[in-house]
Amino acid sequence: MVGCPTVIDLFCGCGGFSTGLLDVGLAIKGGFDNNVRAIAAYNYNHNYRGAQGFVLDLSKASGHDLLQVLQLNKVDLLVGGPPCQAFSIVGSRQGLADPRGQLIFDFVRFVAELRPTAFILENVPNLQTISNGQVYQQLIDRFRALEYNIAYDVLLAADYGVPQNRKRLFMVGTLATQIANFPPAATHFHPATSAVKLMNRPLYRTCQDVLEDLPDVTSPAAAAIPNHEPTQHTKKALQELANLAPGKRSKKYFYDRLHPERPSYTLRAGAGNFTPLRPIHYRYDRVISVRESARLQGFTDDFIWIDTIPRLQQYRQVGNAVCPPVAATLGKFICELLGWERAPAQFVGNPASRPSASTKSQLQKETERLSCIRGASLGLGATSSTLDAARISPPS
Ligand SMILES: C[S@@+](CC[C@H](N)C(=O)[O-])C[C@H]1O[C@@H](n2cnc3c(N)ncnc32)[C@H](O)[C@@H]1O
Repeated sequence: MVGCPTVIDLFCGCGGFSTGLLDVGLAIKGGFDNNVRAIAAYNYNHNYRGAQGFVLDLSKASGHDLLQVLQLNKVDLLVGGPPCQAFSIVGSRQGLADPRGQLIFDFVRFVAELRPTAFILENVPNLQTISNGQVYQQLIDRFRALEYNIAYDVLLAADYGVPQNRKRLFMVGTLATQIANFPPAATHFHPATSAVKLMNRPLYRTCQDVLEDLPDVTSPAAAAIPNHEPTQHTKKALQELANLAPGKRSKKYFYDRLHPERPSYTLRAGAGNFTPLRPIHYRYDRVISVRESARLQGFTDDFIWIDTIPRLQQYRQVGNAVCPPVAATLGKFICELLGWERAPAQFVGNPASRPSASTKSQLQKETERLSCIRGASLGLGATSSTLDAARISPPS
């Protein structure tokens, strides 16, 4: 066994990827993202576990810059989920014509500059088909030209214990070591799996499994649960939702209603100034709360969005995140492959050591809860010392 690897998380968002890797005992040295609110969430949820996030435009930074900021000589594992809007089927499929599509090649550039022993890249599955597969082929060719062995597959989050039918493409690259047995074996199984194959192994986790114990957002008990707040619906929408059966889609409002006995639909981040599409709770006639979204994404309740981060940003950060249990599975896989040690106990931290996630008075909170939110404000104009504290200057 070699020592515990050092990890850098690029395009880290609020840190779903980092969370899963810390959970299985990998040392995340730093996360980088150009969104100040994502880094505010990242730092609130990772500083107490020894990882720090930095606001940085990665299209303008070099590998050397990252090492300098983190005071490291090298990195063992580079992970990242560059923005996928340019490749997503819900986006415009402009491929490389969209500048955001180029950020995936910035990830390749960082691999070339930092030469980590291994990397894990996450993206949407249809990255493989955009421009008739040319973008993906280019990506593979560039990694191979850098002498990395490559393995990739589309992983279903439900297979790894996440109550969500979320498919994401993961590519693993290693220097020197051949990659065998990728992807890691499923830990959870579809209810239709034959009894022989199932052999008492756990079934997919369902919406009900993870949401049923939460009180409704309007009940007094909900006030004590971070990020479990109501959203206001118009009377018309409420009528439509009341008639929407579990597992069905409202044709008028494009709302999907969760089915209690199935995993959730894929949670999405939404793009531009559009509200992330949130499913309707299977029991209550309303969209799910941020806390419910986080549970469906595989986050534990210790992961909290501070209240200086606008609510729609919170939803977006959840929808963007790598599901922590999937990241954890991949972290274990890569450590077993490369003979790296893991030290889970070292990165547990004490969530209670954090300052309060709330900057508002009780009265302010109650007033806001009662007025709910409806609009799509992303709070782009708002600033606060908490957010500003997360900002760093790009290294010179
Ligand atoms: C799909 S999300 C990554 C989510 C993350 N992997 C997680 O698990 O939470 C992509 C991220 O890339 C960030 N991003 C977009 N352009 C960037 C840039 N030029 N430099 C750094 N980060 C950027 C976005 O702010 C967003 O948080």
